[in-house]
Amino acid sequence: MQRCAACHSLDRAGAQATVGPDLDAAFGRALADGLQRSTVEGVVESQILHPRRGSRMPAGLVTGADAEDVAAYVAQAVAAPGRDTGALADVGAGKAGGPPGRRVFNGAAGCGACHVLNDAGTAGTVGPNLDRLLPDRSRAFIRESIVEPNAMVEQGYRPGVMPTNYRSRLSERELAALVAYVAEVTR
Ligand code: HEC
Ligand code: HEC
Repeated sequence: MQRCAACHSLDRAGAQATVGPDLDAAFGRALADGLQRSTVEGVVESQILHPRRGSRMPAGLVTGADAEDVAAYVAQAVAAPGRDTGALADVGAGKAGGPPGRRVFNGAAGCGACHVLNDAGTAGTVGPNLDRLLPDRSRAFIRESIVEPNAMVEQGYRPGVMPTNYRSRLSERELAALVAYVAEVTR
């Protein structure tokens, strides 16, 4: 669900992004009108596996059993009170644990929704593949890419997709750990 949290809001999972529709709102009304959660699960799984052509939602964020798990989780969590943390809300996230920078990458920052980074186990294709892009780039470049994503837009990509609020969303310590981690694993 962390990968989805880069773009969607879902209260139970603590997700608050606004790139894509608010999932609680998207399904809450239909559930109140009698739609079954099992139907929601099917809709979510098909959206994950087959977003419409041209959608800003990338295909293949999670696949196979992970896609089923994420769909089942979302179907249970939408428009349901309470808050989930840990493994439940992390279904389909990249590798859990590891160095602090990886936890920020896969956790609070949700970078993996949009970027491939092997060490973090993520496969997002909305933005450039970081394993390919970063080997000869400096830490200063990586830091600026995160806090000022529109300062330089990578060729072939649209500006305005990568969130521009990381400076306020991440603490200085999280940001420093993230930059050090990304630089280290793409050296
Ligand atoms: C890069 C941004 C992005 C990510 C990451 C993303 N989505 Fe989406 N999603 C969107 C956008 C934008 C839409 C709006 C419809 C469209 O463009 O296809 C959408 C639509 C949806 C819908 C349909 C909602 C409706 O109103 O019918 C569902 C369900 C959904 N996403 C679930 C997920 C799940 C589950 C994940 C994680 C596996 C995820 N999304 C990851 C951007 C994203
Ligand atoms: C919603 C999708 C999305 C998320 C989330 C996201 N990015 Fe990006 N990122 C992009 C896109 C699209 C580009 C290419 C356009 C650009 O350069 O702004 C990009 C570009 C980059 C670049 C190349 C920068 C440049 O200026 O050329 C780096 C490095 C990067 N992202 C790292 C990250 C890190 C680290 C995170 C997490 C803190 C992150 N991204 C989160 C979509 C995203």
